[in-house]
Amino acid sequence: MDLQAYLQEADAVERDGSAALESAADTAALEAARIAVLGDRQGRVKALQEALRSISKEDKPAAGKRFNEARTKLESLHESRKAALSRETSGKPREDLSLPGRKAWRGAKHPVTLVIEEIEGIFRELGFTIALGPDAETEWYNFGALNFPPNHPALDAHDTLYLEGGGLLRTHTSPVQVRTLQKFEPPIRVLIPGYAYRRDFFDASHAPAFMQIEGLCIDEGISFVDLKATLNVFAARFFGAAKTRFRPSFFPFTEPSAEMDVQCGICGGSGCAACKGTGWIEILGSGMVHPKVLEAAGVDSERYTGWAFGMGPARMAISRYGIPDIRILYDSDMRFLEQIAGSAGDR
Ligand code: DAH
Repeated sequence: MDLQAYLQEADAVERDGSAALESAADTAALEAARIAVLGDRQGRVKALQEALRSISKEDKPAAGKRFNEARTKLESLHESRKAALSRETSGKPREDLSLPGRKAWRGAKHPVTLVIEEIEGIFRELGFTIALGPDAETEWYNFGALNFPPNHPALDAHDTLYLEGGGLLRTHTSPVQVRTLQKFEPPIRVLIPGYAYRRDFFDASHAPAFMQIEGLCIDEGISFVDLKATLNVFAARFFGAAKTRFRPSFFPFTEPSAEMDVQCGICGGSGCAACKGTGWIEILGSGMVHPKVLEAAGVDSERYTGWAFGMGPARMAISRYGIPDIRILYDSDMRFLEQIAGSAGDR
């Protein structure tokens, strides 16, 4: 390259480079311009420096002088643009700090979970521990060991899904009574929460898969008095100073059997839609554990006696929160769930 052409090229590099650096509107654009103009690999200043090698010996001092001028000018222009841009951005905040903050989304417990935890808390204080069993059961644990005779009408209410290989989805949490009795020596006091499954239509008061809580108390000398006293303490704690009543009933695995009603908290017993005009809400089935159940589990029924109960926490949630239809509990509708989560606080 001759000197004339080199000087022209130096002018062009200086002119284009200055324009690129000056027009960069933010630090990212300035950095891109720096790489294009002053970059070590493909920068135009670098190319200009390389072109010096093709200049003849006598022209080199003049060409080198011009190169240094151009490079120094572009470098100092880059420095001053960089300083100016950082002054601009640090001087004024980019976000509008006066905007209200975005509220963090906070999860909450489901109303049925709240009820179960509250019930567990009450029974824990009465000396009960928690026991669990499998949802997929054998016919023996679900029915046989619980003294359901084959073809007994009580089985009609317990239709369920039968699994390949002979198992079934348990229709109640009562089989865990037997499993617990097989595993532990009395005295036994356990609370057994878990899912139960039935071939029921999904309607205002039934769900085909629903939670149950079973209770079991076995020791020497346990009588029906203990059953009534314990369940009355529970009802008083859970429902406030509510009245209870026991009605004779039938379950194959208890003898005698009783259902417990609690006076309706919504109408105070005068009768309303929530209690279907009766003034009472049915909350659980209970009874003295049948000797045949104790024997099936290998427990000496001459030495030990005890009582059991089974209740549906979804039904309790309904009466607790005045919910008209059980299906709402399964809808996952946040507008509903948030109301209860909000009113229940951090229980
Ligand atoms: N397992 C019964 C059911 O699901 C409920 C029940 C009744 C459980 C009486 C008990 C009991 O432990 O004593 O219908």
